[in-house]
Amino acid sequence: MFKIIPGKKDIGAQIYCNLKKIKKNDLKKIKSALQKYGMLYFRKQNLNSKTYIEFGKKLGQLANYPRLRGLNKKYPKITVVQRKATDKGPSFGEQFHTDSIYTKKPPKFTMLLSKLVPKKGNANTEFCSQYLAYKALPRFIKNKLKKYKGNYSSEGPISITTMERVKEKGKINKELKSRHNIIRKINSQHTIFCSPGHFVGFNFNLFREKKLEKYLFNHQIKKKFQYSLSWEKNQLAIWDNRSMLHQATPFKGNRIMHRITIN
Ligand SMILES: [Fe+2]
Repeated sequence: MFKIIPGKKDIGAQIYCNLKKIKKNDLKKIKSALQKYGMLYFRKQNLNSKTYIEFGKKLGQLANYPRLRGLNKKYPKITVVQRKATDKGPSFGEQFHTDSIYTKKPPKFTMLLSKLVPKKGNANTEFCSQYLAYKALPRFIKNKLKKYKGNYSSEGPISITTMERVKEKGKINKELKSRHNIIRKINSQHTIFCSPGHFVGFNFNLFREKKLEKYLFNHQIKKKFQYSLSWEKNQLAIWDNRSMLHQATPFKGNRIMHRITIN
């Protein structure tokens, strides 16, 4: 069986299929659905590390993520996002962001596979379509932003949520910085490519245009561009990291996610 159920306004979609037995034609459909809906999720996928990696490789080259510990020596490309009921402070990724935007080539896609989850309705992941956000911008702002670049840092506002995880690795990573065009095109569709969680200024001199920044960040995360994904065990979600902002929502409880990023 292979079936796609799009979300409201075509933000996100659920796909019914067995990822262990994916046919060539279905893989094609998954790739184009990822472009169209930005985020896909698949319930009841009984994947182990081997079959999870195999599926990831069908979508691209697996990326390294230096800021989280790898699952083990055999599967270093699977990183573990874990929160314990006793953990204090914000959850990892608790502010809208783009994964690894502070690198020269941020990954195209991010995948999460849930291994342990709190009660349904808790610990949702929220997504925000930046294709729709771009479309809704007034023309003069579009034209202005097309000339702008954003500066990003791994020590940006969201870094407070990564402190605990970085400590788990036993060493502090050095600050990573990058600069990218704010507006970019993905397969001929414009998107806003700006991570509020990592932003440190526009253009070359970290020039701050406070009014424009505030306007942009508010606009990017409007409710009408959002999709809130709830989790159950053995659910896989994949999203286009370039066109979908995402964030963790606050929760108490035990959760383990296995994460893979793809170039
Ligand atoms: Fe993230």
